[in-house]
Amino acid sequence: MDPKVTTATAIAHPNIAVVKYWGKRDRAANLPAVSSVSLALGGWQTRTTVTWGADADAVLLGGAPAGEGFARKALAHLDRIDPRRPPVRIETANDFPTGAGLASSASGFAALTLAGCAAAGRDLHPVALSDLARRGSGSACRSLPGGWAVWRRGERPDGMDSVAEAVAPPDWWDVRMVVAVVAEGPKAVGSTEGMARSAATSPYWAPWVDTSEADVDEAIAAIGARDLERLGAVMESSTFKMHATMHTARPPLMYWQPGTLAAVRAAFDLREAGVGVWVTMDAGPQVKLLCAAADAPRVAAALEPVALRTVILAPGGGARLVS
Ligand code: PMV
Repeated sequence: MDPKVTTATAIAHPNIAVVKYWGKRDRAANLPAVSSVSLALGGWQTRTTVTWGADADAVLLGGAPAGEGFARKALAHLDRIDPRRPPVRIETANDFPTGAGLASSASGFAALTLAGCAAAGRDLHPVALSDLARRGSGSACRSLPGGWAVWRRGERPDGMDSVAEAVAPPDWWDVRMVVAVVAEGPKAVGSTEGMARSAATSPYWAPWVDTSEADVDEAIAAIGARDLERLGAVMESSTFKMHATMHTARPPLMYWQPGTLAAVRAAFDLREAGVGVWVTMDAGPQVKLLCAAADAPRVAAALEPVALRTVILAPGGGARLVS
């Protein structure tokens, strides 16, 4: 083999925020306006192979040539590792839907960061890896540590204090995320544009930003105490505050579909019946429900009538090299 050609493969799990990231203090560097807390989902993964030194740049998604926008973003990410890089081949595949509000950009950029650095022969410090993943997609830095993770807003203009780190490992707590897929298809407005519109036009922007750090402290305390009711309450509060800034933007951002509200209603009915279940939604229509592992089958069954399908996912680990 040509000694200049090196290949590396990494896998990463998507993550779902329990305290939400919505808004950028620096758009170019993807520095967040607020800190956030997440849980990695072990049952789903992105697997990415980077070959450093190919005949020409090529990007494959799920075995087929990727669309132009996807390919451009993936290649630009490897330019961040080395602006004078050789041609590369990127092969990536998700075992879950791409671009439907299911956090595929988080696992995608986490795996690409790790595989790209390894293929390029860069041995990056965790802070530098976090910085690089964040520049690809903000939430991607939270998929690097996996498990329960916190991504601090930070204050520094260079972003070196805006890093994701572990709060607790995946086996800390036997909880599940039940994902209720209620609509298919890509999202209408991308998160970068949605965040900018919310920040520029929603009258609820300042309260959203001003209350988020306390939500982060509350969530971390709840995770530490394994207190699901406490975590669920702050997760729902963060979720509905974030969506309030979307709904009150001009023009409004409405990521929900009729099935979204039907799923939220089903979850609330279940909670009234005594089951500990709490909801969150991102920049898309799907509803993710947090509950104890023992309650997950009952939660999924209750959501079946209003969802296209449901998936029960356990906590997952960090991004890692597999070859
Ligand atoms: O990583 P991005 O830029 O696609 O932002 C995702 C933001 C939300 O999913 C809506 C919330 C979050 O914290 O993951």
